[in-house]
Amino acid sequence: MTQPSQSPVATEALAESAFLLAARGEPVPHTPVWFMRQAGRSLPEYRAIREGITMLESCMRPDLVVEITLQPVRRYGVDAAIFYSDIVLPLKAVGVDLEIQPGVGPVVASPVRSAADLAAVRPVTPADVSYVTESVQQLRSQLGGTPLIGFAGAPFTVASYLVEGGPSKDHAKTKALMHSDPDLWHALADRLADVAIAYLSIQIEAGASAIQLFDSWAGGLSARDYAQFVQPHSAKVFAALEQYGVPKLHFGVNTGELLGLMSEAGADVVGVDWRVPLDEAVRRITAAGGSPKPVQGNLDPALLSAGWESIEPEIDRILAEGKAAPGHIFNLGHGVPPTADPDVLHRIVKAVQAKSTRG
Ligand code: CP3
Repeated sequence: MTQPSQSPVATEALAESAFLLAARGEPVPHTPVWFMRQAGRSLPEYRAIREGITMLESCMRPDLVVEITLQPVRRYGVDAAIFYSDIVLPLKAVGVDLEIQPGVGPVVASPVRSAADLAAVRPVTPADVSYVTESVQQLRSQLGGTPLIGFAGAPFTVASYLVEGGPSKDHAKTKALMHSDPDLWHALADRLADVAIAYLSIQIEAGASAIQLFDSWAGGLSARDYAQFVQPHSAKVFAALEQYGVPKLHFGVNTGELLGLMSEAGADVVGVDWRVPLDEAVRRITAAGGSPKPVQGNLDPALLSAGWESIEPEIDRILAEGKAAPGHIFNLGHGVPPTADPDVLHRIVKAVQAKSTRG
């Protein structure tokens, strides 16, 4: 695969970017900040460009992927871009019949319930997603010293959409499958690990500087079930990507009880939602004897509408608590809600960068 051409200056700026330094636990010029779901409906320029085009269609057009990925970078001056795509895109690319319904999320026409249904799930090849390679290469040359984060859904979170047939609050069918037919569960999760490995490798080989594995809904599991049914499959993904030497971030919502196990799965940076303070997160990551790691987070997205007098002290608190970790990447505790005010997000970026600047 051809590597995108990068000037030596851009390559050096990238290696010394605040985001990559923090992800490696090295000293930073300032605490880097980006937002999960920074691209999307909160931006008027996103709503305009998406008019009349479905979500998945937009993910398959390099002109749109590049523009939508760059929109929040331009507007906010964030320290990293995240590739515009979706966790179900690789499944769509191999022919799984699914769509993303606005205001709902991914909906799968024929949920996976038996061994025969597994045949529909195979890893993507570069030929299946040539538009991903092309988009990442273009982004790499346009982003200069700003890192691009590639991403994929972790086996459990993607499985939950496939098994439930769509979004679910309690993931009851997925949990029932794990316990009633562990062989089928492990076969499905193993396939989804291969899907994530293939999809992330394609993004890294095209020029992504880091990857984030989203296990958004893992927080619904007990630590015991997570350790038995989920961790080995996420660990397989991280182990397979080790060879690339790029930082690997891992995140889920409501994972306070799982932070140690998610760290042990092989993450270099552990994402934390707003429920657990970052210093306490570091304690939980190291409790089982693990070494401290950089953390990412964790402003409550609900506070975006609370007014600056409420937000600023939270930024100060989070920056202070983040000092307990060898590296801190500022983020929200989950994605930007569609109702967020872009001016508030911009102000947060400026404040985090200014307050944390080393003199
Ligand atoms: O800016 C970014 O973070 C990059 C793009 C991104 C999208 N999806 C674009 C998107 C990322 C990283 C994702 C990952 C994703 N997709 C996750 C993990 C992150 C998380 O939020 O926990 C999950 C669980 C999904 C599945 C999914 N896709 C959901 C729940 C939804 C929202 C449905 C809705 O309309 O409320 C989507 C759709 C989606 N993915 C949108 C975007 C910008 C909104 C669709 C639209 O604009 O019409």
